[in-house]
Amino acid sequence: MSHSELLSRHKAVLPSWIALYYSEPIQIVRGEGCYVWDGEGNRYLDFFGQIITTIAGHAIPEVQEAIRRQTDLLLHSSTVYLSELMVELAEKIADLSGIQDAKVFFTTSGSEATDTALLTSCLYRNSNQVLAVRNSYHGRSFAAQSITGNRGWSATSLSGLAVHFVNAARRRGGPFDGLSDEDFSAACVADLRDVLATATSGDVACFMAEPIQGVGAFTHSPDGTLGAIKEVLDEHGILYITDEVQTGWGRTGENFWGYEAHGITPDVLTFAKGVANGMPLGGVVARAEILDSIKVNSISTFGGNPIACAAALANIDYLLDNDLQTNSLKMGNRLANGLVPIVEENPWIAEMRGKGLMLALDAEVPETGEPNASAAAAFHEETKARGLLIGRGGLYANAVRICPPLSVSEEQVDEAIGIFAEAAEAVTKSL
Ligand SMILES: Cc1ncc(COP(=O)(O)O)c(C=O)c1O
Repeated sequence: MSHSELLSRHKAVLPSWIALYYSEPIQIVRGEGCYVWDGEGNRYLDFFGQIITTIAGHAIPEVQEAIRRQTDLLLHSSTVYLSELMVELAEKIADLSGIQDAKVFFTTSGSEATDTALLTSCLYRNSNQVLAVRNSYHGRSFAAQSITGNRGWSATSLSGLAVHFVNAARRRGGPFDGLSDEDFSAACVADLRDVLATATSGDVACFMAEPIQGVGAFTHSPDGTLGAIKEVLDEHGILYITDEVQTGWGRTGENFWGYEAHGITPDVLTFAKGVANGMPLGGVVARAEILDSIKVNSISTFGGNPIACAAALANIDYLLDNDLQTNSLKMGNRLANGLVPIVEENPWIAEMRGKGLMLALDAEVPETGEPNASAAAAFHEETKARGLLIGRGGLYANAVRICPPLSVSEEQVDEAIGIFAEAAEAVTKSL
């Protein structure tokens, strides 16, 4: 079936708000390593990893084999029965999390993990007041929408939560634009103190933050800022929730979890996306006393499904055994070094940011400094035309996101840099 035929069927039966990439959307039908093929036989370098989810690479034999083995044995087992796979995975993730005396609850998505983190934190603190970060994204569930700090992704502000937003990540174009690292951190702390003193009432349950904002196009505070923020939270007993849905498992190169750059230990951690290399799995890790604060029955029917758990166990082993965190650091540096001259030579690219294999380019109108969504869109199309898939993002859809699987090779990084250079030049000529 051609992509155009599929597009008209898609539009007829799926909601209008499921955004599709590209003026001529494509279907991905096969993947191998860092490459994917579309429904019309075209091959691409996948530098978005299906939204940062195919973290080890496509069709990794160890992960595929674990899924195949489990598929032959049992597709589903309810949580009213014991599951060795679930227990083993929980033990592994609790151990990796850095949280002492941790327990783990499995979900099928990051949104559901966000909801569980908020629910348990609010129960534990007996408060419905939540602090979130401006320009954030934590999922599409009703509760997650209410702590989304990005207008373009928040369908409603109706919520049972009382949410206050602080600034702890957005730099370029934000209220603290132009400040030095030190002054930016101090301004974030002052902003938090002010919100606590003026806008909140009584006890606040929790603060939730992405160490590097995903949908917000990889903007982040200087290292240590979230630590300074946590010191203030600690004064009030406010729980710290780190959303590691995009930043976990070594993606940032320098650390296994994004929170580690800030010298803190969180109370609660959420994960999803890369954990099972594409199988639907998410979850929450928290100190036992917090996660156990639900005093009634509660399950997620598909959370911790045996196939997803088998895939996650194999995937985490693969990431650790092959030290893909170190590869993320090395390949991330190589990619960033290759992008520097491209940023310098093309005036519409205002900034490169991110860490490890989590890099973004911000597009602006050079004369005015306004966000330039059309240049970002053109760059996105030009890279695809040359066989490279990347993501979009940013508050004004004016950024592109680059995040290949952590197994990406030097040759593939160099191939991508060549394509980025040609695509950027094509955009510069068209402006
Ligand atoms: C940082 C972050 N948290 C949570 C979510 C929600 O995850 P899901 O789409 O699996 O519900 C996302 C999804 O993009 C995310 O980027």
